[in-house]
Amino acid sequence: MNKTVVKVVKSGVRFNAWDSKGQKYTGQITTGARKKAYANCNALEQRVNKSGKTYWWPVPMSVYNATETNAMDTPQHNGDVEIPTGHQEVVDFIQQSYGLKPKGLVMNSLKWKYLIRSAVRGKNIMMTGPAGCGKTLAAKSLINGLDRPNFYFNLGATQDPRATLIGNVHFDKSKGTYFSESLFVKAIQTPNAVILMDELTRAHPDAWNILMTVLDQGQRYLRLDEADGQQTIKVAEGVCFVATANIGNEYTATRQLDKALMDRFVVIEMDTLSDEEEHGLLTYLYPTVDTDMLHNVAKIAFMTRTESMTENPRISSGVSTRTSVEIAGLLFDGFTLEESADITIYPQYDADGGVDSERTFVKQIVQKFIDDGSSDDLV
Ligand SMILES: Nc1ncnc2c1ncn2[C@@H]1O[C@H](COP(=O)(O)OP(=O)(O)OP(=O)(O)O)[C@@H](O)[C@H]1O
Ligand SMILES: [Mg+2]
Repeated sequence: MNKTVVKVVKSGVRFNAWDSKGQKYTGQITTGARKKAYANCNALEQRVNKSGKTYWWPVPMSVYNATETNAMDTPQHNGDVEIPTGHQEVVDFIQQSYGLKPKGLVMNSLKWKYLIRSAVRGKNIMMTGPAGCGKTLAAKSLINGLDRPNFYFNLGATQDPRATLIGNVHFDKSKGTYFSESLFVKAIQTPNAVILMDELTRAHPDAWNILMTVLDQGQRYLRLDEADGQQTIKVAEGVCFVATANIGNEYTATRQLDKALMDRFVVIEMDTLSDEEEHGLLTYLYPTVDTDMLHNVAKIAFMTRTESMTENPRISSGVSTRTSVEIAGLLFDGFTLEESADITIYPQYDADGGVDSERTFVKQIVQKFIDDGSSDDLV
């Protein structure tokens, strides 16, 4: 069983709770419990009571330390991630920022540093790359790493951009018509906030229009044309926007992002993982699953990706890291490689065209690894 155990780290006046993967749990634990654990040098373990409610129980620090085994590289939350202001300090902060990257995120150190640098310098950041390659994970890791006020908006899921980004007009018998502003309005007025705009490419074009002035470094305001009185809201000092995009992938709902909007971002392209990196990640996540088995998963993913990038590809996309992590989880729960592929991989590929279909092609690749007999190792 994978237990969640956190360590409390003091940061200024705050007591933050982190697990060993660099995931922050501060908001889920009462301040009292965090302070007490800190004072007693205890870790906190997440438990569930009989009625299904989770609670946090103090445990010796050794329990937390045990979760750190198999570390690929330890994040160094030294508790002081206040962004410095002097130039030399900023340079040092950026150059040493690799320690803020959680172990569970595989990302090239240069790109991670560029991500941190862009955030520190208040740039608008756009994470690009194919589906399931870690764009959202990297953006969320940045938020956790910097320890700044943060807000999350999934723009791909919003049907009504105006309501999400600006607010709603309501009617009440006693008050008459009134305007209630959105969470986004609050977010942009929060100094030093990091605002994640997930799946921006899938957003409605109305959302892009609303964001045009917000993201422009020379303007940085939001027009509230529905609110009475105040017409525009200024973006607060130090606010940084991080967007994710699925440009150039197969999703039909992904709209071609407007060039003018795209120009407002620095672009950080997430790389797909090599088979060695993929294997490293899967082993880190599931250390008890047979390593050869995980190697096979990594190779299947890698081979399909390589094929999809050839000049005349027989499949339009490769198996993503999201899918390979999912498969590793199924193997961990006792599924065979064949069963896991059946549930997770094949449905992603078109079966039209019979023996010439994409699905048949992928099945052949997977079959090669099943026939190797490696799948027997699991039982
Ligand atoms: N580079 C990576 N390092 C570690 N885990 C990864 C990486 N890429 C993908 N994963 C795994 O895949 C899952 C999905 O990743 P994520 O949500 O970040 O993908 P995405 O690029 O945002 O995909 P989409 O384009 O569909 O939004 C993660 O939760 C993680 O388990
Ligand atoms: Mg995403």
